[in-house]
Amino acid sequence: MSGFVEQPEPVQVPGLVHLHTGKVRELYRNGAGELVMVASDRISAYDWVLPTEIPDKGRVLTRLSLWWFDQLADLVPNHVISTEVPEGAPSDWAGRVTVCKPLRMVPVECVARGYLTGSGLAEYRLSRTVCGLALPEGLEDGSRLPAPIFTPATKAEVGEHDENVSYDEVVRRVGTETAALLRQTTLAVYGRALEIAGERGLILADTKFEFGYAEDASHDEELIVGDEVLTPDSSRFWPAEFWEPGRPQPSFDKQYVRDWLTGPESGWDRGSEQPPPELPSKVVEQTREKYIEAYERLTGTSW
Ligand SMILES: Nc1ncnc2c1ncn2[C@@H]1O[C@H](COP(=O)(O)OP(=O)(O)O)[C@@H](O)[C@H]1O
Ligand SMILES: [Mg+2]
Repeated sequence: MSGFVEQPEPVQVPGLVHLHTGKVRELYRNGAGELVMVASDRISAYDWVLPTEIPDKGRVLTRLSLWWFDQLADLVPNHVISTEVPEGAPSDWAGRVTVCKPLRMVPVECVARGYLTGSGLAEYRLSRTVCGLALPEGLEDGSRLPAPIFTPATKAEVGEHDENVSYDEVVRRVGTETAALLRQTTLAVYGRALEIAGERGLILADTKFEFGYAEDASHDEELIVGDEVLTPDSSRFWPAEFWEPGRPQPSFDKQYVRDWLTGPESGWDRGSEQPPPELPSKVVEQTREKYIEAYERLTGTSW
């Protein structure tokens, strides 16, 4: 079982057309045809969107993503237009809104991995490959890869897992040129981000980007990075001081949530059909602090 514990009811705003309720974000289109992305305080764990929100998470992740877009701007253009709250929208949208250029999204989740874990590790254990790429023997959960790799996936519906695909499959879906551009840009951006995170004592184990083309551009024009970038929701950040291959690494942001949910206090059985319960306020507060710490460590500015 997975999905929303409680289906969120999107806010209706005059002049905005609601397009999509994501796991954590709401998507609208404004009168100018632009995309309005609103990050909520929702959090997911073990494939569930939990019934408890983490105050300020939406704002922290929005600001972090904007900061990263700036760090990467010389490598790839991005979809950000502004952070203005649309007229008539609730004032608590301030800091959670990103107004974006609508893109024709390339239907590939562009994942880069510098370390082995998650679905990559699962495939490696079966075939010593990730997305069909051969890897050396003897790697463990959390091992650093000889070099970062591009491990594309195709997007799944809410509650399903994205499916890893080979590079050849990406070529079949989007053509040689776009596939090459996706791989090259993903690895370039990951390399930059890995370095920046490393300077701050964080390992960026892997991350996912989504790219698109401007709506009025022909297909072989410039790739633009969309969605959110390099947030804890789209990436695995590990505190470097606790990195130890051979076991699951502590998650920078969600460890308290995971530990509590799977611990005795929650009364929740992960393997059951049952949705997870509300988080206690202590776990909420600790988790909020971790998001803020991630923001502060990465950007070097205080929240
Ligand atoms: N600039 C953009 N133009 C068009 N679609 C975009 C743009 N940026 C992101 N998207 C799309 O918006 C959607 C955001 O949904 P999201 O909150 O990620 O929900 P989910 O939980 O389903 O991933 C994704 O489908 C993503 O591809
Ligand atoms: Mg998404």
